[in-house]
Amino acid sequence: MLTRRNLLALGGYTAAAAVLGVGEVGRRDAGPVRAARVSELPQVTPFAVPMPVPPVLRPVATDGDTDFYQLAIQRAQVEIFPGTSTEVLSYGGGAVGPTIHATVGRRTVLDVRNDLAAHSNVHLHGGHVPAAHDGHPMDLITPGGTRRYEYPNTQRGGTLWYHDHSHHSESEHVYRGLHGMYVLTDHDEAGLGLPGGAYDIPVVLRDGHFDAAATLLYDMVDPSRRNTLLANGQVQPYLPVAPRRYRLRLLNASVNRVLTLDLDGVEMVQIAADASLLPAPVVRTALTLGPAERAEIVVDFAAHGGRSVVLSDRIGPVLRFDVGVTAGTDDSRIPDQLRPLPDPLPATVLREFRLRMDGATHQGFINDQPFNTGRVDARIQRGATEIWTIANDDRGLPHTFHPHLVQFRVLDRDGVPPPPGETGLKDTIYIGPKETVRIQATFEGEPGRYPFHCHMLDHPGMMSQFEIVQ
Ligand code: C2O
Ligand code: CU
Ligand code: CU
Repeated sequence: MLTRRNLLALGGYTAAAAVLGVGEVGRRDAGPVRAARVSELPQVTPFAVPMPVPPVLRPVATDGDTDFYQLAIQRAQVEIFPGTSTEVLSYGGGAVGPTIHATVGRRTVLDVRNDLAAHSNVHLHGGHVPAAHDGHPMDLITPGGTRRYEYPNTQRGGTLWYHDHSHHSESEHVYRGLHGMYVLTDHDEAGLGLPGGAYDIPVVLRDGHFDAAATLLYDMVDPSRRNTLLANGQVQPYLPVAPRRYRLRLLNASVNRVLTLDLDGVEMVQIAADASLLPAPVVRTALTLGPAERAEIVVDFAAHGGRSVVLSDRIGPVLRFDVGVTAGTDDSRIPDQLRPLPDPLPATVLREFRLRMDGATHQGFINDQPFNTGRVDARIQRGATEIWTIANDDRGLPHTFHPHLVQFRVLDRDGVPPPPGETGLKDTIYIGPKETVRIQATFEGEPGRYPFHCHMLDHPGMMSQFEIVQ
């Protein structure tokens, strides 16, 4: 399909010009337009390298009900720009950590060794995990130390991810590469007939700021120069696909950027939001993903054989699908019904949390308080159902709100029922400037302390914790 974007790409529209030039203009918080600093970035020929798929982590042992894994947290050199080398922080050595495959009902035991000179840890985002294994910001693996995490996998299946959560350094650590996908498969999924196996592909999206030597630069206070978008650790890669249906698991692993994605007008059938299938599929041509949000989409390339389809964010192309011509068999389908919501339990407790950033000090607050690891802002009776009102008090900034441990339903946005893409169970929610969202969750889980926070990890302090009590 030849769209304006493709034509530009074919005409030698370089990645540097595309991402930096357009990006500066298209920024959500666009101030005065700056001169494009094209010379700061290594030049990239768009769509010249294939998109890697992160390796699947192999268990080192299995028994009747458990799969055992090992993972190292390490520095690594990766090739993000052809012919150059970029130092990243990594789970296992790649630009994106290996994908962990888990099955509902089988435990995952993950032994992690920290080879960094800094404290680090692992949090399973979207996981229903006891506090002792949650990767709390104060529960860290010391340099040279090891730690065992146990994940019960007793929740519904879905696309989870794992990332660093070390107090004060989670933003930089996640930005520098400490993130990977965790795909939890439910037994009822096989009956749905969705595309699977080689046609089920994780796509980890994130932004970054690089200098001419391909060094990844981090500046918490000014994320506006992170105008290079990566798909599974590559700049503008291509992915050869067959003319058939694919299931794509999209994750926005950026620590600040909200992605607004489209596929050249081709339909993206959204089947899941965060770690949960939707009650029914939703046909979309645009998709917004705040930091830490996931969406699963099914794309049918059957009508596009021999052409290319480009996934783009508002700041530029991200990934090109090159559709082959030989049709194989495709017995996948998208059923009308996916996974119904559980019946809601009556809520007995209402709480309100107001999010705010102080622009001058770059300090975040929840209910006017910065994060204090010793303070608990919500004591929750184990099993209680609560409604939380989350208000974004900022005029110019969005936030993404995320409580650990639970999945929630979205009751409304500014009093209006959520759009169909938010009708499943979610664990992270985008909240626009001055917007108020109400969510409802049932807090089953082990007693202990769990964080809740803004997942724009560049908003330090916008974090608190709740405690499950018996
Ligand atoms: Cu993605 Cu506190 O988590
Ligand atoms: Cu989390
Ligand atoms: Cu925030």
